[in-house]
Amino acid sequence: MNRYYAKFTAFGSYTPPKVLNNYDLEKIVDTTDEWIRTRTGMFERHIAADNEAASDLAYAAAKRAMESSPVKYREIDLILVATVTGDYAFPSTACILQKRLGMKDIPAFDLSAGCTGFIYAVDVARQFIENGTYKNILVVGVEVLTKITNWKDRNTCVLFGDGAGAAIVSRARSADISHIIDTKIWSDGSQGEYLYQPAGGSRMPASRKTVEENLHTVYMEGNKIFKLAVRSMTSAIDEILKQNKLKPDDVDWFIPHQANLRIIEAIIDRLHVPKDRVIINIEKYGNMSSATIPVAVDEAIRAKKIRRGDVILMVAFGAGLTWGSVLARY
Ligand code: UT7
Repeated sequence: MNRYYAKFTAFGSYTPPKVLNNYDLEKIVDTTDEWIRTRTGMFERHIAADNEAASDLAYAAAKRAMESSPVKYREIDLILVATVTGDYAFPSTACILQKRLGMKDIPAFDLSAGCTGFIYAVDVARQFIENGTYKNILVVGVEVLTKITNWKDRNTCVLFGDGAGAAIVSRARSADISHIIDTKIWSDGSQGEYLYQPAGGSRMPASRKTVEENLHTVYMEGNKIFKLAVRSMTSAIDEILKQNKLKPDDVDWFIPHQANLRIIEAIIDRLHVPKDRVIINIEKYGNMSSATIPVAVDEAIRAKKIRRGDVILMVAFGAGLTWGSVLARY
C-alpha cells in the first residue's frame, strides 16, 4: 500500500527564441522541406544561442512552473534534471539549477535516460513522494541537442531542437482528484549502440581526431530506432493500461515523445486511438528529447486542452535504449 499519492501540481516550459525551419536547412545540407515534412512531420525547431546552455533553458522552464504553482521556492525538497546535454560532464546541471533558483540545503541530481529522461525522472519523483521522503519535487527535462548535432549529416541534423520542460510533483491531499496513477520504466542496454554520442566520455575522450571526425555528435541508426520506438512505446502504453484495468478509451490525452510523426501515427493506429486525443507539436519543435513531453503537456494545459481531472498518458522511447510511460489524473 502506498502511504501517499503523488500528483502534478504545475508545469512550465521554455524554448529559445531562435528558430530554424526546413527552408533554412535546405541551405545547410542536401535536403528538402518536402522530405523532412513527409518523413518526420517537422517544420521548425528552436535553437539555443551560443551562450545558452542546458541550465539556462532549465531555469526559465522551472521559473514558469514555479510561477504556476502554489508551492513556494523554500518548499521544494529535491531537484531532478533529466538530460544528456548538461552544461558540463560534472557538476550536474541539477546543482547548477539549484544555485540559480537559490534553493539551498536540498539534494539535486541529474538522470540520463535519453528521450525517456522525463518519464524516468517522474518515476523516481513518484517513489520519493509515495514513500513519504519528500513533499515537493522539481522535475526538469532539458536538452540542447543542437550543440551535439553534426550539421553535415542530413540523416540526423534535421531532426533535433532545443527546449526545457519542468513539472512540480507534490504529495497529493486526500481531497485531490489529481494523482499519478502509475509509472513504468524499461531499458535494454544490449541495443544501445544504435543511438549514442561516441566521443567525449571515458571510452573516447576528446582529442583532435574525435573533433575532426565529428565524433562528439549524435550517431543514430534511424531505421532500427524507428521500429524499436514503435514497438516499445506501443507496449509501454498497453502494459500500463492493462495493469490499471483501463482501455485507450479511458484516456483523455496521450502525450507521446515527439521523434517522428510517423512513429506517433503507427502507435495510435495500433492502439486505435483517435488523433484528436493525441498532443502533437512536432511540427514546431522537432525532437527535443527529454524536453518534448513536459513542453507538450505545458502547452496543452495553457491552451486549456488538458484540464484538471483529465486522464493523461505520457510515453517515450530513447537512448539506452530506454522506454516508459506515466499514467496520471492531472
Ligand atoms: O528520439 C528517440 C529516437 N529517435 C527516433 O525515434 C528517430 C527514429 N528514426 C526516424 O525517425 C527515421 O528513421 C528518420 C527520420 C531518421 C529517417 O527516416 P527513414 O524513413 O527511416 O529514412 P531512411 O533513413 O531509410 O532514408 C531514406 C532515404 C535515404 O536515401 P537512399 O539511401 O534511399 O537513397 C537517405 O539518405 O532518405 C535519405 N535521407 C534524406 N533525404 C533528404 C536521409 N535524411 C535525409 C534528409 N533529406 N534530411
